[in-house]
Amino acid sequence: MKDFAGKIVFVTGGASGAGLGQAKVFGRAGMRVAIADVRQDALDNAAKELEAFGIKKEDILPLKVDLTNRAEYTAAADKVEEVFGGPPHLLIQTAGVNSFGPIEASTFDDFDWVMGVCLNHVVNGLLIFVPRMIKAYAHKTEFWVATTSSMGAFMAGSTTGPYSAAKAAVCNLMYSYAEALKPYGAGATVLCPGNINSNIGNAEKFRPANLKNTGYHVSEGTMKTLRAIHATGIDPVELGEILKEGIENGRILVLPDHNPENWANQLRGLHNTIEDYTLTEAERQEKAAKRMAEMMKNFTPPPPPKDGEKPAPPPSMGWGVPDGGEAFGQARKDLDWVEASKRSKT
Ligand code: NAI
Repeated sequence: MKDFAGKIVFVTGGASGAGLGQAKVFGRAGMRVAIADVRQDALDNAAKELEAFGIKKEDILPLKVDLTNRAEYTAAADKVEEVFGGPPHLLIQTAGVNSFGPIEASTFDDFDWVMGVCLNHVVNGLLIFVPRMIKAYAHKTEFWVATTSSMGAFMAGSTTGPYSAAKAAVCNLMYSYAEALKPYGAGATVLCPGNINSNIGNAEKFRPANLKNTGYHVSEGTMKTLRAIHATGIDPVELGEILKEGIENGRILVLPDHNPENWANQLRGLHNTIEDYTLTEAERQEKAAKRMAEMMKNFTPPPPPKDGEKPAPPPSMGWGVPDGGEAFGQARKDLDWVEASKRSKT
């Protein structure tokens, strides 16, 4: 899809973070922008931000909707047609939440919340919008579906189970849609970012009341740590530009880097991990040791401290626990059947 001006984009999770960045980028490209989000206050602020970014007020349509609710999502789709005169030419499904803890400590609420937003809302949007988009635009004008997944789609993590599973499913779905939409003159793109400077660190604050029974340790402290990590992530507008370049070039999978030549290397590393699952435990250990030895060949230790000097800090990813923060990814302390090292002390 190359021409955006005068067309309609519908961005889920458009009141914050990556979704708001995408709304800005495609709005700047001349699209009329519908943003769908569950938080009214965030929608109000986002509408102001979009205006300040140069998008005309009449081209902004904020919609308060719980996207996991099919009736609400359908009503939002009807509203877009009523206000903008047709279904979106570009559907970008970006709403998402995350929650971290040992997978064996997960509750049904943990799975229902995270997979409900990260996967089921994507399915809802595809089933609600794609038939409308085909009927309105096939062979007449360009249209496209896009979804924000995550690099987490390509990795399994013992503390990211529901999130990684949902994101992997979303990628797979989008590969199917990319093939399926070709005969209509359309396509699909899935964006897999690493870390984004967004508000996802606060997601637990907005977990719905009926899904609050978590098996994970969640606190102001864990959210503080997550906020500090995400503050180091990519700027949402820059990420939106990368998605736009991907859609313009008809790419199905987009990684968070302006240069697609770097993507293959990143994916190869991730796929090696999957290949390793076919090995025995002993073979895996041997391979891991070889990889570590290879890494150490290129590691130059810091010079020893001179008399009176503090030793250099150990190398770090910059992802430490900030003052007042707490480690995340642990089980609730009362789940005494969970291995002690995986349980919170507080
Ligand atoms: P964010 O928290 O800033 O934005 C997500 C938005 O989704 C929020 O405004 C929230 O209210 C909305 N939302 C949540 N549940 C909803 C529901 N049921 N109905 C309607 N709206 C709902 O977070 P961020 O980081 O911008 O997340 C956007 C996407 O990027 C998500 O799919 C996330 O999984 C993905 N992602 C984020 C990464 C990060 O480092 N922040 C890394 C990789 C992927």
